[in-house]
Amino acid sequence: MDRTAQLTARPAPPGIAYDPPASGTSPHVRAARVLTANWTGRSTVPSRSLYPHQWSWDSAFIAIGLRHLSPLRAQTELETLLTAQWADGRVPHIVFNPAVPLDAYFPGPDFWRSATAGRHAGAPRTVQTSGIVQPPVHALAAWLVHLADPGLSHARGFLVRVYPRLAAWHRYLLRRRDLGGGGLVSVVHPWEQGMDNSPCWDAPLARIVPAPPRSFRRADLTHGAPEDRPTDLDYGRYVRLATDYRDAGYADGHADGHTNAYADGSGGFAVEDPAFNALLIASEHALALIAEELGTPGTARRARAERLTAALVERLWDPEAGQFRCRDLRAPTPDRGLLPERSVSGLIPLLLPTLPHPVAAALVRTLTGPHFSLGDRTRLVPSHDLRSAAFDPHRYWRGPAWFNTGWLLEHGLRTHGERDLADALREAVVTLADASGYAEYVDPYTGEACGATGFGWTAALALDLHHAPLAPPVPELTPPA
Ligand code: SER
Repeated sequence: MDRTAQLTARPAPPGIAYDPPASGTSPHVRAARVLTANWTGRSTVPSRSLYPHQWSWDSAFIAIGLRHLSPLRAQTELETLLTAQWADGRVPHIVFNPAVPLDAYFPGPDFWRSATAGRHAGAPRTVQTSGIVQPPVHALAAWLVHLADPGLSHARGFLVRVYPRLAAWHRYLLRRRDLGGGGLVSVVHPWEQGMDNSPCWDAPLARIVPAPPRSFRRADLTHGAPEDRPTDLDYGRYVRLATDYRDAGYADGHADGHTNAYADGSGGFAVEDPAFNALLIASEHALALIAEELGTPGTARRARAERLTAALVERLWDPEAGQFRCRDLRAPTPDRGLLPERSVSGLIPLLLPTLPHPVAAALVRTLTGPHFSLGDRTRLVPSHDLRSAAFDPHRYWRGPAWFNTGWLLEHGLRTHGERDLADALREAVVTLADASGYAEYVDPYTGEACGATGFGWTAALALDLHHAPLAPPVPELTPPA
């Protein structure tokens, strides 16, 4: 049954213009309009209202869709982000637009103070940024953007210019963020992993003393419905962690003489996350392909991607759960630090073509089983376990379905030969993205729009799925035999 007609958007919160599909245009055109409306000249905002600057992993996903409209804009999107890279290699999670008023977003440049607080870590002087990172989707995006127009890419020296920056970015993560010593990268703030208020973080965040409510002023509630957003208590803890990291000079470990509450510089939050590491592995495979395109061997990168995949399985795979879990490196309990909550993050490694077959098969069973119910009770993959007491179908990353995870799992299913499931998921992503007004996220059962509409990566990834060939699966990522 076509349930698209049943979709209803809730009344838009103040400041959000819900733009119902205009008659006489196609979904392709409507998605393109979102990307045009959000384009600032050098990059794309995720949302004109809620996120008025450039965000790191948003830009990578946006470039993947933008390549079908304008390979030049897609290249520029990534180049703009990489221009804000720090000398230590980190790619900041936000690049601030100086033309946007300070109170339009919190925490803004006056909070992060990158040019001063980040001086020792090599923050750029000419642009203001945050000091934390986001998932490394960028090399994967750069490779896909290159493939959209290799002629333009060669003519502009796109890969030649971005390759050293992407390599330095991965080097930063692998050398400075292996806080657990087992080969995987850790995040030191929930905003770094990207799924800010995931129930996975409830236990590790409970140990963090929140910043006093009156010490900061949220801007997101001016634009987003409170029941769709993280709580004030969550925000107090986010602010505390970011403040501590900033006040320690954004130092990781003891480099440059800085110290922090922990010897590894992480403050009180350090988590190994399956999606973050899977995206690093996918990007490392992409870097190997870029290296080869530039005439240098990709063998060492491919070997590293394989070692990371082995570490991912070794450290985060839970065979009983049939999915990957997050590891809380600060857990005081002797339970190996594996967090009990099941997040969509634990399914994202399906993206990896070289995942052992039994692991991939178990992930597909979990995705379609009672915890995520894809193809059964849910229309799109929920961000969290339907059976968890913490599940909430509307609140940010505590249950709603997001379009970037849908895109990643679509590729994962196709990569592992699940063509029917992949086709159905592709159809659901494209249909619900358009029917929801290119919402930031949707109720996984009904498709009801949540958060902002006119959201950049929703439009971009729906566009990409319009364009991508149905078969063979992700040839761009598959290493040569
Ligand atoms: N996702 C966070 C926010 O809501 C920070 O990147 O602002």
